[in-house]
Amino acid sequence: MVLEQLMELAEKERAARKEICIRCCMAAGCMSSRATEIKEAIEKAAATKGWVDRIEVRRVGCMSACGQGPIVSVEPSGLLYQRITPENARSIVEALTGGKVEAELGDPEHPFFSRQTPVVCVNSGRIDPERIEDYIEAGGYQTLHHVLSEMRPAEVIDAVVRSGLRGRGGAGYPTGLKWGTVAKSAGARKYVVCNGDEGDPGAFMDRSVLESDPHRVLEGMTIAGFAVGADQAFIYVRAEYPLAVSRLQTAIRQAKQHGLLGNGIFESNFNFNIELRIGAGAFVCGEETALMASIEGKRGQPHPRPPFPAQSGLWGYPTLINNVETYANIVPIVNKGPEWFASLGTEKSKGTKVFSLTGKIRNNGLIEVPIGITIREIVEDLGGGAPDGAKVKAVQTGGPSGGCIPAGYFDTPVDYESLVSLGSIMGSGGMVVMDEHTNMVDVARFYMQFCMEESCGKCIPCRAGTVQMYELLTKIVERRGTIKDLEQLEELCDLVKHTSLCGLGQTAPNPVLSTLRYFKNEYLELLSEQ
Ligand SMILES: Cc1cc2nc3c(=O)[nH]c(=O)nc-3n(C[C@H](O)[C@H](O)[C@H](O)COP(=O)(O)O)c2cc1C
Ligand code: SF4
Repeated sequence: MVLEQLMELAEKERAARKEICIRCCMAAGCMSSRATEIKEAIEKAAATKGWVDRIEVRRVGCMSACGQGPIVSVEPSGLLYQRITPENARSIVEALTGGKVEAELGDPEHPFFSRQTPVVCVNSGRIDPERIEDYIEAGGYQTLHHVLSEMRPAEVIDAVVRSGLRGRGGAGYPTGLKWGTVAKSAGARKYVVCNGDEGDPGAFMDRSVLESDPHRVLEGMTIAGFAVGADQAFIYVRAEYPLAVSRLQTAIRQAKQHGLLGNGIFESNFNFNIELRIGAGAFVCGEETALMASIEGKRGQPHPRPPFPAQSGLWGYPTLINNVETYANIVPIVNKGPEWFASLGTEKSKGTKVFSLTGKIRNNGLIEVPIGITIREIVEDLGGGAPDGAKVKAVQTGGPSGGCIPAGYFDTPVDYESLVSLGSIMGSGGMVVMDEHTNMVDVARFYMQFCMEESCGKCIPCRAGTVQMYELLTKIVERRGTIKDLEQLEELCDLVKHTSLCGLGQTAPNPVLSTLRYFKNEYLELLSEQ
């Protein structure tokens, strides 16, 4: 493909658009609530009215308000419908000629939507993720063309460095620095890897991005391959994400058919291929060294670093490994410029962050907000607080590696450093809200059980320590624990944190440590007399 063909395709799509577009969310959340039947009912109603030439019924990705799903939006009216059923879906078409609307109206002006800043999710809920033509119409693959025809690899890396983008997989490592290291590392070949394992309980950001806009991730990875000098890439996604897997397979096939993957992309001498690798759903396989072992067909267990993947990764070759959302940020950084990206966020944490807002919260779903927004703004303005008039007590960020932040600290900005100073982490974007009825010791026990079950067993502190900590927490929750048990729990937290081999064990004590820091009274109240 050449640029003219890309533009022609985009123009053809634009010309084929109809007067009215009814967008049906068909991401996993809405799909599990009969979204396929809803779309069919709307199509049937349009056909019955004889309006197939006027109405386009489009499958789209996540529309953000997952808790109100299934969701449908109508353009140009801008109307939003929520909690639709296949039975009342036809009234959405009837309403176009003044008929009675039976489906529930949503409020597109609600702060849940208006306070968001879509950068990564800009196409989510708008384009059909299974049609490359939709992505191309939205400007897709033009940035890749620009990179291959106008930029040198070092210039691309420089743009990523200047953007200030930090890895969205959890640790927040500077992305440009990592790309520079891979580019400089000597190797007969190099690899690019996309980490889409996403095993944290309560996290569904990467799944949603992959289900809603897979080409954006492919384009970002291809630009990364050009920048670091790789010709082969892998995307690692868990089998528990079948829709993301099938949409990625479709996207890769379409990109190959259009010459946007493969040899001589855009008539350059750059060759790049992307393959999908399906994981079996082990949390530890999100850890980069375990993930690479799994791609190599070995048991998914971590190994000590150094060597870091950037120097010696897949099959011993320099490997760039980044998170799904990290790659999804590359197109806007190159396209709109690193300065534009750096104007979003805080001094040390640039851009936006996608969070999955869940738990005891009225408006739950997938949100994208500028980094630096306060926890209070997220929980109260976007989230609308806890349901049934309950008080919000805390927010858990960072999954099993993170911690619980009490309501008294909700004016803290959400950025990498601030959350660490509170004993939590930004993590990959899971945000679970707890209300006044939540027992925080039980929350700590839940995360410890998760770590215990997901520990790969390679090193003793994590393998045995998580079991012992889980047993002590169970004793305390069941009111059988003593002050000695609590002291032992604290000692074990310290030991496991400092002696485990990988991040899973090193961070497993965090939910216990943060609840001990802020909610020690709840532990003490549960202790037995002895
Ligand atoms: C136990 C464990 C699980 C992890 N799971 C993920 C994951 O699901 N997705 C991810 O991108 N990073 C995960 N990470 C972090 C990766 O090891 C790695 O730092 C990340 O993929 C790098 O990408 P980034 O620089 O774009 O953040 C995990 C780390 C640990 C220790
Ligand atoms: S810390 Fe846990 S998950 Fe990591 S290598 Fe050791 S046993 Fe495996």
